[in-house]
Amino acid sequence: MSFTRRQILAGLAGVAVVGLGAGGARYWLGRPADSAGHDYELIAAPMQVELVPGHATEVWAYGGQAPGLELRARQGDWLRVRFINHLPQPTTIHWHGIRLPLEMDGVPYLSQLPVLPGEYFDYRFRVEDAGTFWYHPHTSSAEQLGRGLVGPLIIEEREGSGFRHERTLNLKHWHLDREGAFSDFSVPREAARGGTPGVLSSLNGVHAPTLELPAGQVVRLRILNLDNTLTYRLNLPDAEVRIYALDGHPIQPRPLGKEYWLGPGMRIDVGLRVPEAGRELALRNGPLRLGTLRSVVAGEAPGDWPAALPANPVAEPDLARAQKLRFNFEWAGALSADTGEGAVPTFWQINGQAWDINDKTCVERPIATLHKNGHYIFELRNVSQYQHPIHLHGLVFKVLSSNRKRIEPYFTDTYLLGRNETAQVALVADNPGVWMFHCHVIDHMETGLMAAIEVV
Ligand code: C2O
Ligand code: CU
Ligand code: CU
Repeated sequence: MSFTRRQILAGLAGVAVVGLGAGGARYWLGRPADSAGHDYELIAAPMQVELVPGHATEVWAYGGQAPGLELRARQGDWLRVRFINHLPQPTTIHWHGIRLPLEMDGVPYLSQLPVLPGEYFDYRFRVEDAGTFWYHPHTSSAEQLGRGLVGPLIIEEREGSGFRHERTLNLKHWHLDREGAFSDFSVPREAARGGTPGVLSSLNGVHAPTLELPAGQVVRLRILNLDNTLTYRLNLPDAEVRIYALDGHPIQPRPLGKEYWLGPGMRIDVGLRVPEAGRELALRNGPLRLGTLRSVVAGEAPGDWPAALPANPVAEPDLARAQKLRFNFEWAGALSADTGEGAVPTFWQINGQAWDINDKTCVERPIATLHKNGHYIFELRNVSQYQHPIHLHGLVFKVLSSNRKRIEPYFTDTYLLGRNETAQVALVADNPGVWMFHCHVIDHMETGLMAAIEVV
């Protein structure tokens, strides 16, 4: 595959960075009708923050924040981001959940060359779907995401959502020791199990913060799991909460219930009826508090539950004529041949094939070939004792059924496949390209659980 070398050497101080502060700030020009120019200049750079009280941690930030700057665009418009790499390593940006042309998908050696330190790359694409999405590198992922290169991407509904208030809640754990220094992002014995967990929780980059919400209003909370490995068992005891969208895509609103398992890479949009002023609610992961929501007096008439969000323009798969493909997600530990220094161990495989992140030719051997505009049912079979949030680039699929739980069919880009679960999902292969298909537990993905699916 050959590349137009869009990346131009920018030099560390070379680019005129209009409107940016020291670390880079939001830069919104707002000329959404065409693909020329850019809406954001987004810089990735090291930055000191205090995650452990009294200690500095050097995170890697997008736009001077970790998690990164919130990017926004309106459904149907172009999103135009000039991405500038001021990190000490090559990187890319992948736009998780966005259906876009392959050249904009941010997979190194497949959709573009890595953006080298000092270079920039212009990402430009039209956003067809409204919802809560996110962005992250697709290079040295355990380290780069682990150091903070994860950020929310919000696509606003073209006609409005019916919510007068909203908040974005970015969830991430940090791999830190007591002095705020980074510990290993991936250790083999954990990668071979559930993934290497971070130890310090954060909500919008702060450990267990308190957020204020307007009393009496129904607020949209966009909750994103930007963590490398953890599945959050989300719950909000004693709160009135309804789910409005899963992974960006609207559903018929329904109560949150006791808890919702939000795997790595997944998002949930809920409506929360904020109680009378002075009350506090806990947003929790199982029994652990991730943050506190405090209701404060709002000079506004009480709000009501908005109607369901408008559906995204996703093609409906025709199950009667769909072709069925099976994908087995398996443990491969026994097959691992550790070839010595610098080699990445292989613990996982899809249909008997393990991805090697150091082998650039893997992208040339897709695990499946789909016909453009063909209809498919994927049977996803997890034959392991660990859960895998299975994610597909470039396309959206509909979850149909599972042998483990009742499914209300819905569209998504990531499905949390439980241990020993078999699920059926369906899609129309309407976006030509070569699309990564992987587990979003980053150290599973980096030790084999990744493949490419081509649509031609
Ligand atoms: Cu968030 Cu390859 O994905
Ligand atoms: Cu993705
Ligand atoms: Cu996995």
